Amino acid sequence: MKNIFADIFLPFKKSPAILISFILSVFSLSLLIIQFAWIANQNKKIITYDQTGPGKFQAKYLTINMEIPDRSDGTKNCWQEENGTWGSQYDIYIYNNTDYTFLDWELEMTVPEEARIDSSWNGEFTQSSGKIKVKGEQETLTIMAAAHSSIKIGFVLYTNQLMNSSSFHLTGKFLRNPLKNKLFLFALTVFFVVFIIFIISNVVYYLVKKQRTIDNEKIESLIKLCARFIDVRDEYTKMHSSHVGDYARKIAEKMGFDEEFQKNIYYMGMMHDVGKVLIPREILCKTSKLDDEEWKEMKKHPLYSAGILEGFTAVPGIKEAALYHHERYDGSGYPTGLREKEIPIQARIICVADSYDAMHTNRSYRSHLSDEVILQELEKNKGSQFDPDAAEALITLIKEHKL
Ligand SMILES: [Fe+2]
Repeated sequence: MKNIFADIFLPFKKSPAILISFILSVFSLSLLIIQFAWIANQNKKIITYDQTGPGKFQAKYLTINMEIPDRSDGTKNCWQEENGTWGSQYDIYIYNNTDYTFLDWELEMTVPEEARIDSSWNGEFTQSSGKIKVKGEQETLTIMAAAHSSIKIGFVLYTNQLMNSSSFHLTGKFLRNPLKNKLFLFALTVFFVVFIIFIISNVVYYLVKKQRTIDNEKIESLIKLCARFIDVRDEYTKMHSSHVGDYARKIAEKMGFDEEFQKNIYYMGMMHDVGKVLIPREILCKTSKLDDEEWKEMKKHPLYSAGILEGFTAVPGIKEAALYHHERYDGSGYPTGLREKEIPIQARIICVADSYDAMHTNRSYRSHLSDEVILQELEKNKGSQFDPDAAEALITLIKEHKL
């Protein structure tokens, strides 16, 4: 389970483009959802407008203008029938000045109980208990309710007395189109852009990763080939290079280095003694003690290794690992006598791994040492021959039986 999560989150750790585009995608998607929810909620709200008396009415927030004929002179659009009743013509203009469609609207007007509608236009009129209600007809509703449009509804009303004023009550809902909302459109645009960047970043990341895997496989097979070539020359140290590579990787892991470093130090361990191919076989495979000249030649192998690895850039630091792997922490090693932190860390780790393999395997002049003796040697030489941290990591690995 831990590995699954590690694999999922690895691209976010390795690629800032993936991480940033993912965060922006989540942020803009959240903004989209919030904005959409707000719009959906607004679309459910019933909007109410009230007007008392004739004239133009400017509604607050979403502008609805309603005009009724000016009857202030008491006669305009009004007439008296022979039977004494008064006729009045009402023309009501409703303007929708918003960007949204106005739906399910209903206009209600208070009239005297005895009033009666004689004729009407552009609406569905009903009358009861001193109220006239008007709804948009199906075919006119769309026209009336569309954004930035208007409609005229009207009727002729007969009353016993001249009616000088009227009150209106208008209700309805505005249908907000998210695609006309600037914030929604902004969030939508940002979301699409960053999401596309996120997808492209992922594709690029996996293509590069795949190519790196192929490259690493090629490098590893070449290095293994070289290591076999090194090891077969010396029958007593067979598989020494491979073993040092394995031990160095485990020590680096125990010391907390990342996977890239662990992979590289494995390669360094495999190649640290590559210069031995230039040491004459009679010296390399000699079972008796080397004389001074032979020992002098033998001690040149780190320099030979560095020369061979010069320009091998596929594994950064590999030349230094080979050149300094016989340096001692106290400065008494060879070929340059570097000490402590002057010695590159990869060389200090290879030194410990190299010595462990030497102690752990049979040699011409002795049998392999037991773990107890090796632990004593590591403790004794920790800080003099060996880097203390690398030696401590190896001691822990031995005690945990992980080698
Ligand atoms: Fe060596």
